[in-house]
Amino acid sequence: MDTPVRDDPTTTEPTLDPRDPYPYFAARRRLGGVVPGTVMDYSRTPEQFRPRQSWSALSYAAVNSALRDDRTYSSRLYDSTIGVFIGPTILAMHGDVHKAHRNLVAAAFRPQSLHAWEPEIVRPICDQLIDEFADRDRADLVREFTFEFPTRVIARLLGLPEDDLPFFRKHAVEIINYTADVQRAFTASTALQEYFQAQIDRRRATPTSDIIGDLVAAEIDGEKLTDEAIYSFLRLLLPAGLETTYRSSGNLLYLLLTHPDQFAAVRRNRELISAAIEEGLRYETPLTLVQRTVTADTELDGVRLPRGAVLDICLGAANRDEQRWERPGEFDIFRKRIPHLSFTAGVHTCLGLHLARMETRVALERLLDRVHGITLTTDGDPHIAGQPFRSPNRLPITFESVG
Ligand code: HEM
Repeated sequence: MDTPVRDDPTTTEPTLDPRDPYPYFAARRRLGGVVPGTVMDYSRTPEQFRPRQSWSALSYAAVNSALRDDRTYSSRLYDSTIGVFIGPTILAMHGDVHKAHRNLVAAAFRPQSLHAWEPEIVRPICDQLIDEFADRDRADLVREFTFEFPTRVIARLLGLPEDDLPFFRKHAVEIINYTADVQRAFTASTALQEYFQAQIDRRRATPTSDIIGDLVAAEIDGEKLTDEAIYSFLRLLLPAGLETTYRSSGNLLYLLLTHPDQFAAVRRNRELISAAIEEGLRYETPLTLVQRTVTADTELDGVRLPRGAVLDICLGAANRDEQRWERPGEFDIFRKRIPHLSFTAGVHTCLGLHLARMETRVALERLLDRVHGITLTTDGDPHIAGQPFRSPNRLPITFESVG
């Protein structure tokens, strides 16, 4: 079943509107926690990347249980979608192989590292970006802040020169948008492979204390990681670490700036920042959908799913399930805190979630500490859009002063 998209004259039901897909998700969820058909718009996706048989999990309960059962719902399908361009990565691995590789790279994101990165890397980068617009009275926080800081952070963590930022950001974006231009994504993949190979070679000759250096030194059962395993992981980190973090921090700023009472409350009481971050992630899920293949005939929420079918796991729909949250369609940082699914659940739970939360908190703290009298203007119609990735197109602000 194809997803009805906006402007489809044959339907009176809510359609998939990239500006607000939530009425569509809610209408589908009212039919059941699991329904036949996809919630993706495949109209511009090349045939080879379109699944033949799709179901969608939409309720919190169904999404949560599918994510936690990686035997029945396998992420291997990523090998034939994004994996074609980034190579074999932990995202598509399973079982013991996944565990071994994940443990190894997880060591690079341990809490001690985060403690050091906050004052040494993340905070100075946020301050540097604020300094760059401080002598004006207006800025676009997407172009000049939220889009910039996660890229600069990842570059520093990996030990890559700042001058190379435009190069790898461009190629990372081309890979993640592979459905728009397959050939361009292949070219980007090769360019990044050659670039990272040179970085790996350099570290094999002279060890470094950055993440690439850690991966070069790492071993599984006494065996060093292959160059392919390392550069594939690095090609995953770029989209994983950049796309999602810049989108989630933009979403949070948009939501606070369009809810001035809640913004003022956060300004007065910084202890609310963590609740604001979680509510932002719930209400505007940066990546609304992940996918799995059904490995054996099974039942989910009373619906029979055949082996080989693709299951769209709709994190965005689950995060606004009225069975779990009161008033799910309201952004409310004061609501009772219960876990959302924006970082998924189970074995593939986001590896960078602590880093992402820290980056977002520091970015918001530095803006609150230094930029006074912020107001969102209507220049260029700022709004959140996109499916499955969502974020504001721009965040044009005026401000009174920068401290
Ligand atoms: C708010 C920001 C972020 C969000 C919303 C997010 C979301 C996600 C989601 C939904 C997945 C699971 C995909 C799936 O199961 O199919 C995931 C996995 C992953 N994320 Fe994140 N992510 C964020 C930030 C980051 C950062 C900053 C990094 C690292 C620098 C990162 C690294 C990863 C990795 C390596 C995986 C694969 C884990 C595995 O397969 O075991 N993410 N992320």
